[in-house]
Amino acid sequence: MTIDTTFQIPEVEISPKAQAFLDKSKKCLIDGKWVDSASGKGFSVFNPANGSIIDMAPAGDKEDIDAAVNAARKVFDDPSHSWNTMTPSERGKLIWKIGDLILDNADELAEIESIDNGKPMAVAKVADVPLSADLFHYMAGWATKIEGNTIPISVPYAPGAKFHAFTTREPVGVIGQIIPWNFPLLMAAWKLGPALATGNCVVLKPAEQTPITALRLGEILQEAGVPDGVVNIVTGMGETAGAALAAHDEVDKVAFTGSTEVGKMIVQAAAGNLKKVTLELGGKSPNIIFKDTANLEQTIAGAASAIFFNHGQCCCAGSRLYVEKDIYGEVVDGIADAAKQIKLGPGLANDTEMGPLVSDEQLCRVTDYMNAGQEAGATCVTGGSRLGEQGYFVSPTLFKDASEDMSIVREEIFGPVVVASPFEDVEEIIERSNDSTYGLAAGIWTKDIAKAHRTAARLRAGTVWINCYNIFDSALPFGGYKQSGWGREMGHEVLDLYTETKAVCIGL
Ligand code: NAI
Ligand code: MG
Repeated sequence: MTIDTTFQIPEVEISPKAQAFLDKSKKCLIDGKWVDSASGKGFSVFNPANGSIIDMAPAGDKEDIDAAVNAARKVFDDPSHSWNTMTPSERGKLIWKIGDLILDNADELAEIESIDNGKPMAVAKVADVPLSADLFHYMAGWATKIEGNTIPISVPYAPGAKFHAFTTREPVGVIGQIIPWNFPLLMAAWKLGPALATGNCVVLKPAEQTPITALRLGEILQEAGVPDGVVNIVTGMGETAGAALAAHDEVDKVAFTGSTEVGKMIVQAAAGNLKKVTLELGGKSPNIIFKDTANLEQTIAGAASAIFFNHGQCCCAGSRLYVEKDIYGEVVDGIADAAKQIKLGPGLANDTEMGPLVSDEQLCRVTDYMNAGQEAGATCVTGGSRLGEQGYFVSPTLFKDASEDMSIVREEIFGPVVVASPFEDVEEIIERSNDSTYGLAAGIWTKDIAKAHRTAARLRAGTVWINCYNIFDSALPFGGYKQSGWGREMGHEVLDLYTETKAVCIGL
């Protein structure tokens, strides 16, 4: 691996409030109580900017998952429990309050997210934290709008008979939620918001790389008044706590975000009791720039941000950059310049634009791809190395001259690595864009609005951004075609996946 040893990391200071939360002994939240793991074991949480240990979290395992599922089950199965007798309006107000409390604690949440994950605190402040709050505010409004239908029926074998038929929407039950480390707080919000709006009970397992903000969110849920046992949080490894949750017979649904590889394991684990499964998995999203794009400078900035935002650790990252031949050279030069100008550093430094990757494991994974690209014969225009020997920094990287069968073109890298390639016509680029096992997102840049629509309609992807990229909103459904997942997060679409429909038919 090439290492640029000139890279220096400035000293940063942690605020007393964030330090106080880090210093607090971390426990799991089970049945409203903060408890150690049953085994008494813990695992280390690292600061990706320097590799130091910043905290310990309980290493939850099957026994802890059992206790958490039992707590959730006990609430869900008790019709007289306050969670089940609460009116939709009361539930909506409670969920709204979670959003308010997230905003009240925005600075602290952004700081601990930055320390835990490595992302710039300034980004967490304007994106992760307000988006998390907004998700709860948005879902709060839905609590009073979970409606069924009245359905006129004909029943051919009962001529003359009259019926009154309608549907109701009921919570699915106990939901296991397993989330990743790239947007730890926001992924917890995406999962918890709809589950709570529809009246479910939850066991949440945060990623082992980034368990800290989920535990702080647990405190916020308690402060908002979420009853004991409705949301349980168990930290631990995927192979132990995560696997136990996915396989648990008393869990009615598992919602997972992470790698496609583990997504397939979740499906297998869920087969035991045929629990419902939703999956938000990987991507290798094409970002297509036509030569008639409105403003080349803005397009280049947008395409750079499509891959470099959050250090490329986005399932929807625009990692396959396709540029119409006439402007290919100019775009490649522009992206390379943009990559070189990105200021890397620890998330807590004010001028940091890109932090370290989340873990040593991801550092190895991403640098292995950088090496594989070079060994396969692709040209590394810029980047391609680790930065410094401390922390998990890599340089924003641009490849060109790659063939479509190379791993850097086909596989999700989940780092700041983009591969640029020229194209000549629309049909060709639609085919190449769709030539992927993934189908999460895509980008199109053109001022020909008819061409944009025609192309968008043909792309097999859950999200298509036209003349923009990475635009997220609580009201906009997000999820994947093909091996990028099952189901959608956010919007009203997600509510269907947290409710069962009951058809009721009354003979009159
Ligand atoms: P992962 O899929 O292993 O981890 C995601 C979550 O699943 C974590 O909470 C983890 O503890 C849990 N998990 C792991 N193994 C499990 C199992 N057997 N049963 C139940 N839960 C399990 O992802 P990882 O290893 O952290 O990252 C590897 C690659 O996955 C990344 O390089 C990236 O390509 C992809 N990824 C995609 C994400 C997305 O947003 N779609 C998020 C994170 C990773
Ligand atoms: Mg893994």
